[in-house]
Amino acid sequence: MAASASCLSLVVLVALATVASAQLSPTFYDTSCPRALATIKSGVMAAVSSDTRMGASLLRLHFHDCFVQGCDASVLLSGMEQNALPNNGSLRGFEVIDSIKTQIEAICSQTVSCADILTVAARDSVVALGGPSWTVPLGRRDSLDANVPEANSDLPGPTSSRTDLEDAFRKKNLTTVDMVALSGAHTIGQAQCGTFKDRIYNETNIDTTFATSLRPNCPRSNGDNNLANLDTTTANTFDNVYYTNLMSQKGLLHSDQVLFNNDTTDNTVRNFASNPAAFSSAFTTAMIKMGNIAPKTGTQGQIRLSCSRVNS
Ligand code: HEM
Ligand SMILES: *[C@@H]1O[C@H](CO)[C@@H](O)[C@H](O)[C@H]1NC(C)=O
Ligand SMILES: *[C@@H]1O[C@H](CO)[C@@H](O)[C@H](O)[C@H]1NC(C)=O
Ligand SMILES: *[C@@H]1O[C@H](CO)[C@@H](O)[C@H](O)[C@H]1NC(C)=O
Ligand SMILES: *[C@@H]1O[C@H](CO)[C@@H](O)[C@H](O)[C@H]1NC(C)=O
Repeated sequence: MAASASCLSLVVLVALATVASAQLSPTFYDTSCPRALATIKSGVMAAVSSDTRMGASLLRLHFHDCFVQGCDASVLLSGMEQNALPNNGSLRGFEVIDSIKTQIEAICSQTVSCADILTVAARDSVVALGGPSWTVPLGRRDSLDANVPEANSDLPGPTSSRTDLEDAFRKKNLTTVDMVALSGAHTIGQAQCGTFKDRIYNETNIDTTFATSLRPNCPRSNGDNNLANLDTTTANTFDNVYYTNLMSQKGLLHSDQVLFNNDTTDNTVRNFASNPAAFSSAFTTAMIKMGNIAPKTGTQGQIRLSCSRVNS
């Protein structure tokens, strides 16, 4: 009796788990808003051509959305998660998503979620900077709330150890290989001096010339908001040079260099550094997994009219 009851509840659980992701589909808007994907793509291309860094910023925005109560656009709600410690003064791209949303509302009213727009914009950003493409499952709905404490607890920080990073990603059902592949996003974009100051003055697993070159724009005191490229070799190209940098002890963040520090993830870094196709394949697989974290579907949440606030 007990055995069959728990067997039945296992079947129900598995069925429920399948339903959630089975409701995401790449063709979700094909009849309800056939121009949605093209509109997002042209919005992203325009934003990246006037500000190259925007490609990086949109990719990071998607990551910071998905790691906090799933990919539900909670990060876009004004004055909430945006002010959490890992985000305040560093997330960018809200106005790009708002503007794409306005264009999409004009062609298909209250049909396309902000969570889907951000997920597709992240893919289009990678493509705009020369990276791989992939098919994005769609049908996410937008949250009714945000979660500031979860943003503070679940987003990994630049001083994280390798095991901290592994734990933070495992909590989202992402593997260590997924984590190493997704960290390859640091092949584009910039970081503020305050996030790598300790590394360039105090750490020993850093190339000396590299550390010296960063110090003038990141002095021991002050300058915390000054920017440096995360990939100092090919800053604006989505490629696998991030991993080559790590092998030369030229990771900008502490949390980058821990992936190649004479430890268990070294071989994955070597593989991605020497084999661009292996990196592209692992990155796209992991992006799809990250994009599928805890989606709201069916009647959960809502389709926001404006991405920065819930519908009144
Ligand atoms: C592994 C754990 C990670 C840590 C500790 C981390 C940390 C950081 C930090 C501290 C910055 C600089 C923020 C600033 O100074 O304003 C940054 C930037 C960035 N991160 Fe990560 N990150 C991680 C993973 C990821 C992932 C998974 C992605 C996307 C798939 C990503 C994409 C980016 C991008 C593209 C930028 C540059 C953003 C811009 O220029 O606006 N990061 N990250
Ligand atoms: C966010 O940053 C702004 C500007 O630096 C600051 O005034 C504000 O207190 C910060 N908010 C939080 C919650 O830390
Ligand atoms: C991870 O997977 C477990 C088991 O399927 C599930 O209960 C949990 O909600 C998942 N976590 C996330 C963040 O998706
Ligand atoms: C480096 O280490 C010293 C000694 O522990 C410490 O005082 C300093 O704040 C650290 N950071 C920098 C940027 O020098
Ligand atoms: C790497 O780790 C091994 C085993 O812990 C150690 O013998 C070796 O000296 C380390 N090499 C470097 C470059 O730190």
